Amino acid sequence: MVKNSRQSTLLAPSLLAGNHGALAASADSVSALGLKWLHVDIMDGHFVPNLSFGPATVAALRQAGNKLFFDTHLMLSEPQHYIEAFAKAGSNLISVHIEPDYDHRGILAKIRQLGCQCGIVLNPGTPADAVEHLLDQVDLVLVMTVQPGFGGQSFQPQMLAKIAQLNDWRQQSGHTWRLEVDGGIDLQHAKECFDAGADTFVAGTAFFKAPDRADFARCIEQFAI
Ligand code: DX5
Ligand code: ZN
Repeated sequence: MVKNSRQSTLLAPSLLAGNHGALAASADSVSALGLKWLHVDIMDGHFVPNLSFGPATVAALRQAGNKLFFDTHLMLSEPQHYIEAFAKAGSNLISVHIEPDYDHRGILAKIRQLGCQCGIVLNPGTPADAVEHLLDQVDLVLVMTVQPGFGGQSFQPQMLAKIAQLNDWRQQSGHTWRLEVDGGIDLQHAKECFDAGADTFVAGTAFFKAPDRADFARCIEQFAI
């Protein structure tokens, strides 16, 4: 069957696995390969047990002249308070988790009003049904393939069924949101996720530690329907 609501394959390297003492250089090394997206993980030490970057970091990367599409993954208990700051800082897409209790519809709409694309994220323990009512309102659905909070964890293969379920709904509805996967993504797991319907691949450790990053990127972006 031709999967025609699926988007072109994209790699989004995760800055979390870059050099935290030289983030602008890490981001520049991604653009130098001709890649278009950069995944930026924002953690609050509450929704996830770790801290990472804030809006000032995103603004500084943008001010340093980086033109990458900033795919900003907010792992925050109260994302509603930070949307505006990340939009102003230069994020292109802002994703928020479904699990915390806030006005999901309102926040997704606000992200768009601020001129960004919007995404909804599911933790490994959250079923696809939890986001079904929001699928007419998003530009991206992010399926976490590890428990969020840290890079370098092992891919959870049980997530493939959730990816396939979301892809089926996308085909049936004709929606064109991207289906992104994040956590433990190397070439093998990326291919499994691609076969299940994913089109957008976050890779931190596997990308930044690859012996040949250009080759890693080529291998991912060559996946074709
Ligand atoms: C985990 C983050 C991921 C992380 C992925 O909480 O959301 O984006 O950077 O790192 P790897 O690819 O090393 O699992
Ligand atoms: Zn992430």
